Amino acid sequence: MATRLKQIGLIGLGNFGGSLCKEFAELNTEILAIDRNEDRVDAYSSLATHSVVADSTDEGVLKSLGVRNFDLVIVSLGDDIQSSILTTLVLKEIGVKTVWAKAQSKYHRMVLEKIGADRIIHPERDIAKRLAHHVVSEKIIDYIELSPDHSIVELIATPKVNQKTLGHLNIRAKYGCNIVGIKKGVEIIVSPSADVILSEGDTMIIIGTNDDLKRFEDRGL
Ligand SMILES: NC(=O)c1ccc[n+]([C@@H]2O[C@H](COP(=O)([O-])OP(=O)(O)OC[C@H]3O[C@@H](n4cnc5c(N)ncnc54)[C@H](O)[C@@H]3O)[C@@H](O)[C@H]2O)c1
Repeated sequence: MATRLKQIGLIGLGNFGGSLCKEFAELNTEILAIDRNEDRVDAYSSLATHSVVADSTDEGVLKSLGVRNFDLVIVSLGDDIQSSILTTLVLKEIGVKTVWAKAQSKYHRMVLEKIGADRIIHPERDIAKRLAHHVVSEKIIDYIELSPDHSIVELIATPKVNQKTLGHLNIRAKYGCNIVGIKKGVEIIVSPSADVILSEGDTMIIIGTNDDLKRFEDRGL
């Protein structure tokens, strides 16, 4: 049998946790799956290495399951915000090194940050942002927020930049952002040099502050 790559605890096997369980199983990860709903646990027992019906707010149960020794524990308890906060708190208290928690709202996210969650996942908000940016700007194909001020965007090359080299466009000096990749059909050029020629329809993957990216999108493209 192939070696397991990482040990991951999944707390909550609903829409999100269940999808994660499927993906981690495909990636040959050791999974401890916990949910208080027996049907959810049954649904994923063949994918998870260990699956347990338990209330994750119970510190004694988490300790007895050895959750502390896992590389990463992901908490996705949906609308049960009280359980999500208590579970995250208990996980940090018993010494789990890395805890990621799924937030349902801005206030839920703020509490999770305060109690020490190492990463907050807010998929509904993130996907809504990405889609909205794509819809309002025909030039933006994708958008990933890195921090409140910095993003990576995928912009489509317009006729304005057609057949121009990156050196000629001089985007870093003029707009303060960096092109980290260019997609030309199925080919991807990583860290493209100044002599790469853009063609209309290419995709530029650019990192920068939101203000610089917006200036480039509005004036440079
Ligand atoms: N279509 C629907 O009927 C429906 C229902 C619920 C959620 N949703 C959507 O799914 C998304 C949320 O997905 P999700 O995976 O975060 O939540 P989810 O509601 O799909 O799953 C949460 C899981 O956490 C478990 N749980 C809750 N408290 C627990 C505790 N103390 N101990 C152990 N297990 C516990 C529940 O049994 C459940 O299986 C949201 O977008 C929501 O709108 C849709």
